[in-house]
Amino acid sequence: MKLLVTGGAGFIGSNFILYMLEHHKDYDIINLDKLTYAGNLENLKSIDGSTHYSFIRGDIADAKLVGDIMDTGIDAVINFAAESHVDRSILEPAAFVKTNVLGTQTLLDVAKEKHVSRFVQISTDEVYGSLGATGRFTETTCLHPNSPYSASKASADMLALAYHETFNMPVLITRTSNNYGPYQFPEKLLPLAITNLFENKPVPIYGDGLNVRDWIYVMDNAEAIDRVLHKGKEGEVYNIGAGYESSNISLIKTVVKLMNKSESLITYIKDRPGHDRRYAIDPSKIMNTLGWSSRTSLDIGLKTTIDWYEGNRAWWDRIKSGEYMKYYEQNYSSKGLKAY
Ligand code: NAD
Ligand code: DAU
Repeated sequence: MKLLVTGGAGFIGSNFILYMLEHHKDYDIINLDKLTYAGNLENLKSIDGSTHYSFIRGDIADAKLVGDIMDTGIDAVINFAAESHVDRSILEPAAFVKTNVLGTQTLLDVAKEKHVSRFVQISTDEVYGSLGATGRFTETTCLHPNSPYSASKASADMLALAYHETFNMPVLITRTSNNYGPYQFPEKLLPLAITNLFENKPVPIYGDGLNVRDWIYVMDNAEAIDRVLHKGKEGEVYNIGAGYESSNISLIKTVVKLMNKSESLITYIKDRPGHDRRYAIDPSKIMNTLGWSSRTSLDIGLKTTIDWYEGNRAWWDRIKSGEYMKYYEQNYSSKGLKAY
């Protein structure tokens, strides 16, 4: 198969590309990424030069570019490209509408025109809104997004499903809970906490720290997306979750303990506006229909992630200093590397 992965220089997209090239050695992957602040080609350094992988810097909202890429014969699109950070969506909602809504609609339009035979839209549990103390999100839970980020992702989901109904497009949607693991940008809670703790800096906790998230190791999500890509039913939504719910404060206390640091570094700060209280995914559908289940316990996943950040300090030092943004110029554009 020849895949177009968008947003493949980000956290989940890069882990997905590494997963796919490892598990499908004859697949070809084109990675289309705009390289916003969140895109980092160093995540994919290990496959630079692979004959099965190529990179194109560009915007998913650029219909001409997307059309040219699809003309090379794309079998499936997996759309990870997005503005993904809730706090940024509160400060700058327009960027979220441009990429997450208009960008997705552009990709859908071009994929329709070029008769692409599979389109996987990567979505989030945040489209369902916030839960009370009990219950879990199923695929039929009503959408109730509360942040500009989740509203833009819900809009993209609605468009994708509408293209399936109206144009019979082969669209599938995954809605995953909070991912963690290697290559996550240190603005998100876990990598921010881990890197700050290594530097003996404070770890900011919003509000009372009792907001609950449902954590999944990123490679388990990659495997689930692979399953949906190959075995999922067109027009269907699949929730992906591992069942590890934790309040933020309890999660961070576990991390502090695993890293032998002092809890005095935990600092409560002003809450995020509109902060969703609790997310919890019911993954029964993907487990029962596609035979997927997560492999990594939260305990093992956290230890692996902490070890990775410890062993890859140069990676996050270069992010915190801004150096990482030069990687594209140094390794791609200046050498005139072409994608295809
Ligand atoms: P990320 O912010 O780490 O990466 C996003 C990538 O998209 C970056 O490489 C960025 O350069 C690229 N990008 C942004 N705008 C683009 C555009 N207009 N055109 C092309 N590329 C563009 O995000 P992530 O955490 O890896 O999330 C990936 C996807 O998974 C997103 O769609 C997100 O909504 C979804 N998701 C994330 C999580 C999570 O916990 N991180 C959970 C559920 C769903
Ligand atoms: O649920 C899936 C979503 O998970 C994805 O769709 C998003 O792309 C991804 O960013 C993530 O959203 P969250 O808002 O849940 O992730 P974040 O890491 O920003 O925050 C996790 C929790 O920790 C949340 O309750 C807010 C809190 N938090 C976050 C930060 C950055 C803190 O207490 N302190 C912090 O500094």
